[in-house]
Amino acid sequence: MKAIEPSLIKDNFIEIIGKEWMLVSAGDKTKFNTMTASWGGVGFLWNKPVVFVFIRPERYTREFIDAKGAFTLSFLGEAHKDVHKICGSKSGREIDKVAATGLTPYFTEQGNPCFEEARLTLECKTLYVTKMDPAHFVDSTLCEKWYGEKGGLHNVYVAEILNAWEK
Ligand SMILES: Cc1cc2nc3c(=O)[nH]c(=O)nc-3n(C[C@H](O)[C@H](O)[C@H](O)COP(=O)(O)O)c2cc1C
Repeated sequence: MKAIEPSLIKDNFIEIIGKEWMLVSAGDKTKFNTMTASWGGVGFLWNKPVVFVFIRPERYTREFIDAKGAFTLSFLGEAHKDVHKICGSKSGREIDKVAATGLTPYFTEQGNPCFEEARLTLECKTLYVTKMDPAHFVDSTLCEKWYGEKGGLHNVYVAEILNAWEK
């Protein structure tokens, strides 16, 4: 993996987050968890390169993100849809996702979990967290569509990109 300045990453994040998907991982060497996500973004805020991800409160991964104040985003490429299906349908409360997927974890200098298989990895430090509020939907049909029967509104995490690596 080669370190890259976040501003020099050439990927189209609308395309890769929405179609390739990503793993959101958090924790440390003693215990960590990972989950598939396909909603989020990458941008520039408070004069920092940032990501924003949307994590429903009931996700096991959310507990690790909150405890550590940091997480990583791993882009595995289209070839790893099977991994995303496992990590996006089973909870780490029930299965060991590393054993189930065969992914190879490694840990950054700051101790955050990443995967050897990723073609692009972003290491992120949480700056701001908020919970979506139904009263703040300007288009209320979105709230009905996505949050009717389907569980809690997302927590929104804005996080600084501390490091990025490409294969
Ligand atoms: C393609 C795909 C995209 C997903 N995107 C998100 C997302 O952006 N936010 C979220 O909270 N859950 C998302 N999920 C659901 C979680 O990945 C799923 O509930 C997972 O089992 C949670 O695992 P955990 O309980 O071990 O954290 C997605 C699932 C799939 C299959």
